[in-house]
Amino acid sequence: MSEGRLAGQVALVTGAGSGIGRGIAETYAREGAYVAVVDMSESGVAETCAIVGESTRPFVFDVTDVQAMEAAIGAMEKEFGRFDVMVNNAAIVFTEPFLESTLEHWRKTMAIDLEAVYTGSKLGAEAMIRAGNGGRIISTASIQAFMTTSKVAAYNAAKAGVVSLTKAIAVELAEHGILVNAIAPGTIRTGMSKAPDGTDFHDEEPYKDRFIRTGRIPLRRPGLPQDIANAALFLASSDCRYLTGQTLVVDGGLSIVI
Ligand SMILES: NC(=O)c1ccc[n+]([C@@H]2O[C@H](COP(=O)([O-])OP(=O)(O)OC[C@H]3O[C@@H](n4cnc5c(N)ncnc54)[C@H](O)[C@@H]3O)[C@@H](O)[C@H]2O)c1
Repeated sequence: MSEGRLAGQVALVTGAGSGIGRGIAETYAREGAYVAVVDMSESGVAETCAIVGESTRPFVFDVTDVQAMEAAIGAMEKEFGRFDVMVNNAAIVFTEPFLESTLEHWRKTMAIDLEAVYTGSKLGAEAMIRAGNGGRIISTASIQAFMTTSKVAAYNAAKAGVVSLTKAIAVELAEHGILVNAIAPGTIRTGMSKAPDGTDFHDEEPYKDRFIRTGRIPLRRPGLPQDIANAALFLASSDCRYLTGQTLVVDGGLSIVI
């Protein structure tokens, strides 16, 4: 019998092939959970499973593939006889001016960043109800759901949708003992913050001038995947028992400063 705050529980984390999702998978496994590591990146899944170890199960597919998601949840249920925590974390962002943006990019963003959160939540909830132990659904939103920069219209709209979907389904799943919450990260050092040439904007002087030296981020550093994973651990654990439909903002205080 494993030990830890999620001992023996079964979780699925999307976008677990890098960044925040990998941090969540690692943290859940350390706390005793069996974790389905889902990502469309085969190398990302392999790396996460190698780092995290034997309590992971690898699944390489696109989160918009509903049948593949159903099969992954089914495989975890078959092996472990239960399903407890669904983490909808995978997302993409196209950074492009609104007037130059395309409907194709809008639809792709909505499909991955919002619709897959809907389908993942539904399939996850059905499995939790079958197992009869209640459960947790946790989705990664963004402070961009509430605030904005330029050139990210579709992403922001999708993330605002995640916040709203979280409230709507929390109301309906409460009777099944399923708590539904989201996390809104601020600026976090991950693959998403890297440019194609591998540089990370968190290391550049304009970012440091604007956000760190001025105290615009009161905690005076960019976030790390572990900062978000700690929140995701709380939301999955039994310590979180009277909190549902909420979006926990984890941003070092960025969104409280005018
Ligand atoms: N990094 C930040 O500053 C930041 C801020 C706010 C919110 N977020 C959110 O955090 C979450 C994780 O992002 P991250 O920063 O770790 O980025 P990341 O790019 O490091 O990780 C995202 C992962 O999702 C996977 N992915 C993308 N599309 C997929 C698809 N269709 N099917 C399956 N897997 C797919 C990618 O392969 C990648 O491994 C996202 O929801 C993102 O919007 C990130």
